[in-house]
Amino acid sequence: MSAEKIQIFDTTLRDGEQVPGCKLNKKQKLEIAARLDELGVDVIEAGFPISSPGDFEAVNAISKLVKNTTVCGLTRANKKDIESAAKALQSAAKPRIHTGIGTSDSHIIYKFNSNREAIIERAVEAVTYAKTFVDDVEFYAEDAGRTDNAFLAKVCEEVIKAGATVLNIPDTTGYCLPLEYGNKIKYLRDNVQGIENVIISCHNHNDLGLATANAVAGVINGARQIECTINGIGERAGNTALEEIVMIFKQHKELNFYTDINAQMLTELSQLTSETMGMMVQPNKAIVGSNAFAHSSGIHQDGVIKNRETYEIINPADVGVNESSIILTARSGRSALAYRLKDIGFDTSKNELDILYEQFLEIADSKKEVVREDLIGLMHQFTQTIQRKFA
Ligand code: KIV
Ligand code: ZN
Repeated sequence: MSAEKIQIFDTTLRDGEQVPGCKLNKKQKLEIAARLDELGVDVIEAGFPISSPGDFEAVNAISKLVKNTTVCGLTRANKKDIESAAKALQSAAKPRIHTGIGTSDSHIIYKFNSNREAIIERAVEAVTYAKTFVDDVEFYAEDAGRTDNAFLAKVCEEVIKAGATVLNIPDTTGYCLPLEYGNKIKYLRDNVQGIENVIISCHNHNDLGLATANAVAGVINGARQIECTINGIGERAGNTALEEIVMIFKQHKELNFYTDINAQMLTELSQLTSETMGMMVQPNKAIVGSNAFAHSSGIHQDGVIKNRETYEIINPADVGVNESSIILTARSGRSALAYRLKDIGFDTSKNELDILYEQFLEIADSKKEVVREDLIGLMHQFTQTIQRKFA
């Protein structure tokens, strides 16, 4: 059976940008949108047009700029929001309106002071109205993660009848376990009439560190679109990280899914997003963190020097990183020291290395990392000692 494509819906400029401190101006948004288009994402969620004139402008400008990718604007389930999104998306080659409403009891009772029947009515009205502007309408059932499955199925069935083309099942609070989220998608596939005609989308938040695992569980159970952000940025603990999804499907061929993403751009785009938003990437972040391909313990370094695959499941070149790095610390062994010395032009014999290693450990114990300059100093001292000895 040939592999199936998973659509990548990037929401860096919407769910990601709404995070405090991540605000971008129009020029920065356009730059990121252009790079996302090149990266190969299927959908760019460019913003929430009604939220501010600046966001409206940005969605409008991105719609004009982007040629290959669907451009999407977020709305709540009301006419004003939908009209604003439709206007902002007017020039898009492939416009999508993303509308929706909270469906969990907590949202229905506390947020809307409403009831289930009225929520279905509003959902259907919103989709029907959005369809008067664009063909491609994605519906989100906010807090679907905590929504009763039978009610969620009813909402989905009604919005499909109203013309929704994509059904977004957000775990808005990041509450679900992978098995639970996967079963929810399966339940919808088994119980919603017409679901085979639409794309199911996973939108997962990372409050319990499960956003990526949940999205994968969703796909295994029938979803075919994942909503994600570069570096996993997004509300609170963030969203599913785009780079993780791409590499999971690349590394696990047995899952039989692929994306159209050019993975070699991942590191560069991660850095661009981080720098533009002023949002640091944690060093141990999977795929794009500065330590993702760095080895510091002696046992690991020895293994990687002998064969990279002993401790690396991803070839760094595949995600745009030049090579793995061997970081010298007090936990490093002789082979790592020899490797790094060779790298700066010193081939050492076994006896020389034994002496140098003792001196290296003294330096390493006094600082966090032994860097190139320390090695040059070490070799300088070593050569002088030898010269004195034989003078
Ligand atoms: O987390 C969420 O539920 C959302 C929706 C607005 C799609 O971001
Ligand atoms: Zn979200």
